[in-house]
Amino acid sequence: MSKIPRYSALQVIQDAPVIPVIVLNDVAHAVPMARALVAGGIRMLEVTLRTPQALACIEAIAKEVPEAIVGAGTVRTKADAQAAAMAGALFAVSPGYTSAVGQACRDLGLALLPGVATGSEIMMAQEDGFTELKFFPAMQAGGPAMLKAWGGPFFDVKFCPTGGVTLQNATEFLALPNVVCVGGSWLVPAVTLAQGDWARITQLARDTQDLKK
Ligand code: 3PG
Repeated sequence: MSKIPRYSALQVIQDAPVIPVIVLNDVAHAVPMARALVAGGIRMLEVTLRTPQALACIEAIAKEVPEAIVGAGTVRTKADAQAAAMAGALFAVSPGYTSAVGQACRDLGLALLPGVATGSEIMMAQEDGFTELKFFPAMQAGGPAMLKAWGGPFFDVKFCPTGGVTLQNATEFLALPNVVCVGGSWLVPAVTLAQGDWARITQLARDTQDLKK
């Protein structure tokens, strides 16, 4: 049985020009990092399920930073989606697409941004009712030129390109009519986390506000 997500995929991608892709190895970093991004104007946070601490980090942010809207990235299986929802994630991002992940997210009431890199994958996601998609890995798979080409046949799809996107090349993506936001890991550098330099993370988030279309 499907549940209505608290935030739709469109709301997730429309909130800010950039969704930070976050890798956390230490639960103690989760809350100050989330507060730093919120202070810089970014509240949709994608915490990737790539470390043993990721779920605990999602849980901590969901509980202690109510201004943030935390989602799980790297959701590859139904079990990932279930664990993310249990931890308090409100949306999910996947590096690819399977109907099993799509259905699991529907059942859990998690908005999903499915990852696609080919026309066939877009068609599969669309067939299952997903029209806001992550283009991954964006630079490696064709960059802005690929999105321009997709704008013809897939005129009714909106994209969040992620992978190789930087503050510098984000403008070129965001200028495209089928791009709503971009994703990137540059907002939360590993070294900045290790240093606990939260002011730097706030500044990196603020810098993205100039990217507004
Ligand atoms: C990822 O899932 O790793 C994202 O695509 C981040 O890519 P980036 O490090 O190139 O921003």
